[in-house]
Amino acid sequence: MPKDTLTITDNRTGTQYEVPIQDGTIRAADLRQIKSGADDFGLMSYDPAYMNTASCRSAIGYIDGDKGILRYCGYPIEQLAEQSSFLETAYLLLHGELPQAADLDTWVFNITHHTMLHENVKKFIDGFHHDAHPMGMFVSTVAALSTFYPDAKRIADETSRTNQIFRLIAKTPTLAAYAHRHSVGMAYAYPDNDLSYTGNFLNMMFKATEVKYEPHPVLEKALDVLFILHADHEQNCSTSVMRGVGSSHADPYSCMAAAAAALYGPLHGGANEEVLRMLREIGSKASIPAYIDRVKQGQVRLMGFGHRIYKNYDPRATIIKRVADQVFDVTGKNPLIDIALELERIALQDDYFVSRKLYPNVDFYSGIIYEAMKLPVDMFPVLFAIGRTPGWLAQWQEMLLDKEQKIARPRQVYIGAPKRDYVPIEKR
Ligand code: CMC
Repeated sequence: MPKDTLTITDNRTGTQYEVPIQDGTIRAADLRQIKSGADDFGLMSYDPAYMNTASCRSAIGYIDGDKGILRYCGYPIEQLAEQSSFLETAYLLLHGELPQAADLDTWVFNITHHTMLHENVKKFIDGFHHDAHPMGMFVSTVAALSTFYPDAKRIADETSRTNQIFRLIAKTPTLAAYAHRHSVGMAYAYPDNDLSYTGNFLNMMFKATEVKYEPHPVLEKALDVLFILHADHEQNCSTSVMRGVGSSHADPYSCMAAAAAALYGPLHGGANEEVLRMLREIGSKASIPAYIDRVKQGQVRLMGFGHRIYKNYDPRATIIKRVADQVFDVTGKNPLIDIALELERIALQDDYFVSRKLYPNVDFYSGIIYEAMKLPVDMFPVLFAIGRTPGWLAQWQEMLLDKEQKIARPRQVYIGAPKRDYVPIEKR
């Protein structure tokens, strides 16, 4: 009779154990009963970089990496990109369901009316060096917001949690735009509540002397779609950090600053910035084969390619390629797109990439669109962070409400020296 269990024979002792299988997993803690003797701590699983370890049960994001599928709460990313808005998608991630019209209105109203920052925030952004990276400013100022909202520590209080969620989704574009304006030496532009979430972000980025900034509707929509595509990606590096820091019951601003710091790395959300630099370095289609050779020799990585989970085309990259055409109709074509398309064509015919299942990921094409929209390259990871904010918050909230979760605390396999006695410095 088939059974949902796994029988393990410990060949050290000959003992057999039967452990339950649920949702395609066994509980690592069930291995602890497997001991070679009375003093044995019990068997652990060893999984550097969590290549095969599920750390939680989640109802938010779903990825089938072999088929190239991404869904938020069951809804295919293609349908959300086509028909939803970023704020509606944020509501979905945080509530698990699409909103009714009245709920969406209230949600949008609440976020729109939390976009202002305390005036003191300007003072500490002023303190950054003129060429400070916007992501560094973003990470620091998100952390600093926790000092403005001491009630954020009350993470068990639903009302407090909801307020911080409004604030974080609402204020991240304002912080991001302030960081940019500091970089370029322009006066900070206040939020405009008449505009959409994305339209207002463009306003805060680009408003100059005009009385009222009017975002181009195609660019406003394109950015909204890009934010939807970045909104959640289940247990990626930064989301695991959000959950990990949150598991110590830190306030959500501190958690999100840590998550944004994880995102900053070039293997994660910093990759979009690196892709642009790489395409510029390649410079022409003729130089692509030589660059591919360098990648194959292990001298450089092809940035924007490869993914821990996707072993097929990243569905977000497919959507982004379509959005690029719409954007270029307005802005004119970014010449880097031709290099990117050719790079993809050559790579996907090359056995190095085919055998390793390396396909373009979300970061491969996003930067080309951002650049066409005149968004500066070092803002790209910050744009990723704005989009990811609802996902981080949804995962943080889910972790707090999950009765099985505790402070995150992995085990280790100690490989250092055995016990030895301290040697005074004069005797070493
Ligand atoms: N260029 C060249 N070779 C690569 C690349 C790449 N971009 N990515 C993976 N490989 C090779 C790697 O060298 C290894 O080859 P071998 O088996 O011969 O040693 C093999 O493919 C497996 O790679 P891995 O490093 O074990 O894979 P991983 O799951 O640990 O890494 C990754 C995933 C995304 C960090 C990696 O693919 C990478 O560095 N990509 C470039 C950076 C990038 O685009 N990051 C954005 C990811 S998507 C947005 C996000 O969620 O952050």
